[in-house]
Amino acid sequence: MTDLSDLTTLETDVLSAVSAASDEAALEAVRVAALGKKGSVSEKMKTLGGMDPEQRKTFGPALNALRDSVAAAIASRKAALADAALEARLAAERLDVSLPVRETGLETGRIHPVSQATDELIAIFSAMGFSVAEGPDIETDELNFTALNFPVGHPAREMHDTFFLPTKVDGERLLLRTHTSPVQVRTMRAQKPPIRVICPGRTYRFDMDQTHTPMFHQVEGLVIDESAHLGHLKWVLEEFLKTFFEVPSVELRFRPSFFPFTEPSMEVDVRCRRLPNEVRIGEGDDWLEILGCGMVHPNVLRNCGIDPDVYQGFAWGMGIDRIAMLKYGMPDLRDLFSADARWLAHYGFKPLDVPSLAGGLSS
Ligand code: DAH
Repeated sequence: MTDLSDLTTLETDVLSAVSAASDEAALEAVRVAALGKKGSVSEKMKTLGGMDPEQRKTFGPALNALRDSVAAAIASRKAALADAALEARLAAERLDVSLPVRETGLETGRIHPVSQATDELIAIFSAMGFSVAEGPDIETDELNFTALNFPVGHPAREMHDTFFLPTKVDGERLLLRTHTSPVQVRTMRAQKPPIRVICPGRTYRFDMDQTHTPMFHQVEGLVIDESAHLGHLKWVLEEFLKTFFEVPSVELRFRPSFFPFTEPSMEVDVRCRRLPNEVRIGEGDDWLEILGCGMVHPNVLRNCGIDPDVYQGFAWGMGIDRIAMLKYGMPDLRDLFSADARWLAHYGFKPLDVPSLAGGLSS
C-alpha cells in the first residue's frame, strides 16, 4: 500500500535523476522511466483506480503534483541542456571576423620584373598596331645568320659569341639564337606585307659580367610595307620610350653603325642624367645607348621572298633586361637571373598588377 512518503521518495529520486542527466538522450531515458507508459510515476497513477474515495482525495492531488513537478523539472532540464549545447557549439565554432584574411599565392607570389617589362612593352606596341611574333630559342644557322645577310665566314658572326649545339649526323649545327632577329625572317617568310610585329624573347651569348649574362632578353621590332621610312621608326621609338619610362618627353640621338641585316644601320642613344644610384631618362646632359636599328637590307627582304623594289621597312632590336633595370633601378644584371626569392619579393610585381595603357603601366 502506497503512502505519501513513498511519493516523496519517488519524487526525490526522479528529480535527482533529472538533474544528473548530462545530455538530451539521458534525459529522455529518465522521462520514459518516470512518465512513460510503464514509468514509475505512471505506475503510481494507475493505483488511483483501486483506491477508495477517501484515499483518492488525498492521493489524487499528491500524484498529480508529483507528475507535474517531474514534468516541469524535465522541461526545464531539457531547456538548460539545449542552451548548454548551443553555447558549446558557439564556443567551438568561434570565428574572429576581424582577423585579416590569410594571403594566397595570388597575393604572395611575384611577377619577375623582366616579365613585367615585357608585358608593358607588349601593351605599348599593341596600342600602336603591332602584334607579337615568337620563335624558338634553338635556331638554325641559316635563320640566325645567313638569311640575315651574314655571309658564311663573315666576321660579324664571330662577334656574337654563339653557343653551338653538337653537330648532327647530317652535318647541321644548331645554335642558341644570339638575337631575336631570326624571328624577323620567320615572320616575313610566313606573312605578306604590310607587317608590324614585335618579337620579344630569350637570347644567348657566351658572356658574363655585371652587364652581361649568358641568357638575356631582347625585343625585336619589324615594319614592312611600301613606304615605311626612318621618320616612322624615329616616331615609334620616341613614343615607345616615353611611354615605357613614363616621362613627358625623350630625346634620341642616332649614330651610324653597322648590322649586316640593315642598311643604313644606326645605334640610338637616349638623353639621360646619371645619378649615383639611378639613371633618369628624358633629362640631363648624358647619353645612354639603348638600341640598334635600321632599314631592312634588300638582301634580307629577298631572302624572305619579299620584293625589295616594292617593299621596304625598318627594324630595331633592344635589350629588355636593360630597360627593365633602368626603369626599376636594378643595378646588376646577374641578380635578375639568380633566382633569389628575397630579390624577387623586393623587385617583383603583384600578379594582378597587369600593365595597361589605360590602367597605368607600373602604378
Ligand atoms: N640583332 C641585333 C643584336 O642583337 C640588334 C638589332 C640591331 C636588331 C638592329 C635589329 C636591328 O632589328 O635593325 O645585336
